[in-house]
Amino acid sequence: MKYNQLGTTGLKVSNISLGTMTFGAEADKKESIKMFNICKDSGINLFDCANKYANGESEIILGECISSCRDEVIITTKAGSRVTDEINSLGTSRKHLMLELEKSLKRLNTDYIDIYFLHYFDSYTSIEDSMRFLDEAIKQGKILYSGVSNWAAWQIMKSIHISKSNLLNKIDCIQPMYSLIKRQAEVEIFPLAQDQQLGVMTYSPIGSGLLTGKYEEIDKNSSARLYDKKYYNQRYSSETYYDTARKFCKFAKENDYEPSALAISWAASNEAVSSSIIGARNCAQLSPNLESIKIDMTKELRDEISSLSIEPTPANDRLEEIVDEKNKLRF
Ligand SMILES: NC(=O)c1ccc[n+]([C@@H]2O[C@H](COP(=O)([O-])OP(=O)(O)OC[C@H]3O[C@@H](n4cnc5c(N)ncnc54)[C@H](OP(=O)(O)O)[C@@H]3O)[C@@H](O)[C@H]2O)c1
Repeated sequence: MKYNQLGTTGLKVSNISLGTMTFGAEADKKESIKMFNICKDSGINLFDCANKYANGESEIILGECISSCRDEVIITTKAGSRVTDEINSLGTSRKHLMLELEKSLKRLNTDYIDIYFLHYFDSYTSIEDSMRFLDEAIKQGKILYSGVSNWAAWQIMKSIHISKSNLLNKIDCIQPMYSLIKRQAEVEIFPLAQDQQLGVMTYSPIGSGLLTGKYEEIDKNSSARLYDKKYYNQRYSSETYYDTARKFCKFAKENDYEPSALAISWAASNEAVSSSIIGARNCAQLSPNLESIKIDMTKELRDEISSLSIEPTPANDRLEEIVDEKNKLRF
């Protein structure tokens, strides 16, 4: 297992981490615990969770998994998604975050959360308020580090500026989506993370299942995320994604790679990425995915795979003037 520094936290995290979104949902408790143990035995030391997953059940199961190895693992959880129908039961207001952090600590049965994420940007709450909440939670020892997920680059940068100018702990980590079919993070988020030395945990490395190639083979009545969940179906609705998945799976098979493993290895090998969060509904799915650890992702292999998908357009439109890969302009 390869380990990376997580930003400037001093923590070393496995380049592949396990997401627990299926714990207590597609995977029952027994299967979830098995997956956790397989991952831990493979060298994974980072486990991602959220208050929303399986309505809190995922945190409860993760809490059981870590009870005998708390010091050895780094766990995350998040708040910000709607959790009940109550009008204020969402977002990043101090009230909602305070209530949710306490619930998460109880469900995880731990004194502290290593990295606490704001799950989404909340345009109704001032960033300063949310940053003050995170700063206080750090000072109270309830969380060690904070992060934001699904925030745009300008929102992340604004939060860093606000924290610094108010002498608050700033965020240490971000969590964007990133796979061969969802490469938007390459444009603004990754360069920002490298510039600000942020830890980067990316999610959905196999495009929620699309990059396994299984959607070419199974029928629409099968139980699979893009068929079962409307919002996932929408997220991956473009035919372009399917085209890329077809090309990628053909390439993987022709070169004797398990497609899911190759897709994970590709996502995890971006130099800005500290850890790529994988997911599975059972041990049978997890097993080929963990083969990613063994893949030697050379620059040549990475470039070849990258060329199978559409490169996102750069953050500025002066394409013809870009002279190197770091978007340096000729003046
Ligand atoms: N911050 C956020 O907003 C956010 C959002 C999403 C996820 N995450 C985190 O990232 C983690 C991973 O995300 P993800 O689940 O979207 O990752 P992913 O690895 O792209 O997709 C995992 C899903 O693909 C399918 N799959 C996995 N391995 C397979 C295999 N070998 N063969 C066939 N199908 C396979 C399974 O779904 P089916 O069997 O249902 O098809 C599985 O649940 C989550 O657990 C969560 O911790 C965070």
